[in-house]
Amino acid sequence: MTLLPGLLDTEAIRKDFPILDRQVHEGRKLVYLDNAATSQKPRQVLDALSEYYERYNANVHRGVHVLAEEATALYEGARDKVAAFVNAPSRDEVIFTKNASESLNLVANMLGWADEPYRVDSETEIVITEMEHHSNIVPWQLLAQRTGAKLKWFGLTDDGRLDLSNIDQVITEKTKIVSFVLVSNILGTQNPVEAIVRRAQEVGALVCIDASQAAPHMPLDVQALQADFVAFTGHKMCGPTGIGVLWGRQELLEDLPPFLGGGEMIETVSMHSSTYAPAPHKFEAGTPPIAQAVGLGAAIDYLDSIGMDKILAHEHALTEYAVKRLLEVPDLRIIGPTTAEERGAAISFTLGDIHPHDVGQVLDEQGIAVRVGHHCARPVCLRYGIPATTRASFYLYSTPAEIDALVDGLEHVRNFFG
Ligand code: ALA
Repeated sequence: MTLLPGLLDTEAIRKDFPILDRQVHEGRKLVYLDNAATSQKPRQVLDALSEYYERYNANVHRGVHVLAEEATALYEGARDKVAAFVNAPSRDEVIFTKNASESLNLVANMLGWADEPYRVDSETEIVITEMEHHSNIVPWQLLAQRTGAKLKWFGLTDDGRLDLSNIDQVITEKTKIVSFVLVSNILGTQNPVEAIVRRAQEVGALVCIDASQAAPHMPLDVQALQADFVAFTGHKMCGPTGIGVLWGRQELLEDLPPFLGGGEMIETVSMHSSTYAPAPHKFEAGTPPIAQAVGLGAAIDYLDSIGMDKILAHEHALTEYAVKRLLEVPDLRIIGPTTAEERGAAISFTLGDIHPHDVGQVLDEQGIAVRVGHHCARPVCLRYGIPATTRASFYLYSTPAEIDALVDGLEHVRNFFG
C-alpha cells in the first residue's frame, strides 16, 4: 500500500459512501475517477434527503402550517450554511440556482438588462479565458450578440496556464466584466486570481469567478477572492444534483435587475407593473430546489466535519503522486500543468494515437470510471490540437491504490491497441 504524507483516512471515509462498494462488469471493483463530472454522495446527505421528504416536505415561504415553517427553516438554514462555507459577509448574498451554469447565466443576464453603470452595450467589452467551461463562454457570447459588446479572452501557454502577458491590453477601460474559472475542469490549472482582480479593479470592471472545481476541493473565501460574483454547484461537492449557488456582493444584488420573473421574487404585482423582493429572493423565482438545498447543507456539514484544508492536502498529495505515475506511462502526454503546484485534482491526458473514447472504454471494462471527450471545454482541445482527452479526477475518498489501478489499466489499454 502506498502511503503519502497528508492523506486522509480513506478507509473510514469510504464507509460513508455506499456506492464506492459497488462492483461493475461482473465482479470488477469500481474505481471512480470521474469526480470532476460529479462527486459521489455520503450516507449523511442521502439520509438528509430522505428525512426531508419523509418528515418536512412542504413549499417554502408560503404556508402558515407547521410543515411549511419547518421546510422554510431548513431551506433558509441551508443558505446560512453556504454563507458560512464561503465566508460571505451576509446570508442575503447567497442565491440558490439549479447549477453553476444557471448561476453564470444569471450574472450575464443581470448585466444585460442593467442600467448604467453596469450595463453591457456596444461600447463595452467582456473578458473571459480560453480555458473556460462552455457554461462560462456561451452566456457571454449570447450577451455579446444581444448587446453588440466585444468578447475578448486570455489565451493559454503551452504548459496549460493562462497567458497574462498582455493583461493590460485584454482588460481595458472598456471592460465591464471579467469572468474566469478558478480551477479548470479540463486542465486542472488553478488561476492567479489576485493579478486578474487587481487589473479589473484598476479599470472598474466587475469580476465573476467560476468556482465549480474549487468549492468542493479547497477552502473558499469570497471576501479574500475580492470578486463580485462567485458561482459553484452542489453536485460536485457531495451534494445532490439540481442545486447551484451564486454568491454576489450585496450592493450589486440590490442594484441589478432580476432575470426570471414569477412567484416569490416579488413585493407587489398589479396588472401594470411589479416591484421586487430584496435579494436573494429577487433572483429565486418560483418554487426553489428545496430538498436539494437541504442536501447541499448536509454536504457542507459533512465536508466541514473533515475539514477543507485537509481535503486540499489529501488531493494535493494524490495529484503529485498521480502526475508522477502517469508520466511513467509511455506515450502519455498530460494536457495541463505537470506539477502539483497551483493545480487541482483533475488530470487530462492523451495516450499516443489511441482515441480517448477507446481509452475510456477499455478502462471501463476494468471497472475504472474516467471522463473522455472535450469536457465541455472544446476551445482547450482546439488550442492544443487534440480532438479530446481522457480525464482522471480525484476527491476526498480517492486513494493511491486507485491511481495505481489507473496506471495498470492504461498499460492494459496500450497492450490492447498494440
Ligand atoms: N463540468 C463537468 C465536467 O467537467 C460536467 O465533467
